Amino acid sequence: MKSIKNMELKNKKVIIRCDFNVPIKEGKIIDDTRIKASLETIKYCQEKQAKIILLSHLGRIKEQNDLEKNNLKPVAKRLEELLKTKIFFSEETRGKTLEEQINQLKPKEILLIQNTRYEDLNGKKESGNDEELGKYWASLGEVFINDAFGTIHRAHASNVGIASHLPSAVGLLVEKELNALGILENPPHPFVVVLGGAKVEDKIGVIGNLVKKADKILIGGGMAFTFLKAEGYEIGSSLLDKENIAFCTKILKEYANKIILPVDVAVTTEYSEKEEYKIKEINEISYNEMGLDIGPKTKEIFENNLNHAQIVVWNGPLGVYEFNKYKKHTKEILEYLIENKIKTILGGGDIVAAATKEGLKEKVYHASTGGGATLEYLEGKKLPGLEAIK
Ligand code: 3PG
Repeated sequence: MKSIKNMELKNKKVIIRCDFNVPIKEGKIIDDTRIKASLETIKYCQEKQAKIILLSHLGRIKEQNDLEKNNLKPVAKRLEELLKTKIFFSEETRGKTLEEQINQLKPKEILLIQNTRYEDLNGKKESGNDEELGKYWASLGEVFINDAFGTIHRAHASNVGIASHLPSAVGLLVEKELNALGILENPPHPFVVVLGGAKVEDKIGVIGNLVKKADKILIGGGMAFTFLKAEGYEIGSSLLDKENIAFCTKILKEYANKIILPVDVAVTTEYSEKEEYKIKEINEISYNEMGLDIGPKTKEIFENNLNHAQIVVWNGPLGVYEFNKYKKHTKEILEYLIENKIKTILGGGDIVAAATKEGLKEKVYHASTGGGATLEYLEGKKLPGLEAIK
């Protein structure tokens, strides 16, 4: 894999694809792990006197209403604070003004371009890897560095597209991630996967492959309820991926001894912190309730299954960790893994954000900036962002 260290960067316009897909609430960045993780490569380019152009997506853009909440501007501000240097920002993802801004860049200066997925409003041009868009963005620079490990499993115009038109390499973060994740090529056993989070539709499919590699898969968070539904339980208004119920039934039948589901959950009637919650056995959930965390019995079962693990990969929190009430069991299991010195790889935005919030991130074996990316790496799939560099 070609590394940034083998590229001539001096005085060149260097496009760096970062993953600045960070949680933002009312214009404020809730967790800046991914921004901090990108700094090493940016600073390296500054040292080499490159003119730096940064690209990233943020959130998912399906309609006009998604634009404002997924504006990348707060990231420019945070980068400015972290790098203590001016970050130029382009409101446009293409056009004359952007091109002029780039032409005025001096060595070491940095320009961040607006959310690449703004182009998705125009017929999914970014996430559909539109040929003409990739070519256009490539025309803005002279060298391309893909440092967006979190997006390495996507074939977007801003990673795969650009790479096919410019001399390209991976950045220091991608290198670091691949080194740390190398252990998963032949994982030591018992190998346990913990899966949670809310991107149910995205992740449910990977279980079919993971289940063949892992000794146990512990499923919590929003992910668990489609499985519980498949087992015939009432799940009220908990997260459900209707399309995949049949898939869950099949997997549960085939791998009953490997997949561990919650036996109790914290339920409430509103997706907020206001309402009180109750701990219920999974056969007691009523039609107007939703599960927002696993329960204490489940926590114990999960810990018993983690006890002898040689390696653990954890993707997605087990409850809605953004609400203090529902972060309890995610936090306690993280602490359990750390206290028992169980080698743990945290994969992705939300579980890493949860660990950071509790001051636990530095204590695990590896906190990856990629969620879906780590899972697809683990599945042994080809990662389009890497393939394009090769
Ligand atoms: C992530 O958060 O997993 C990456 O940034 C990719 O985002 P996506 O799942 O919206 O493509």
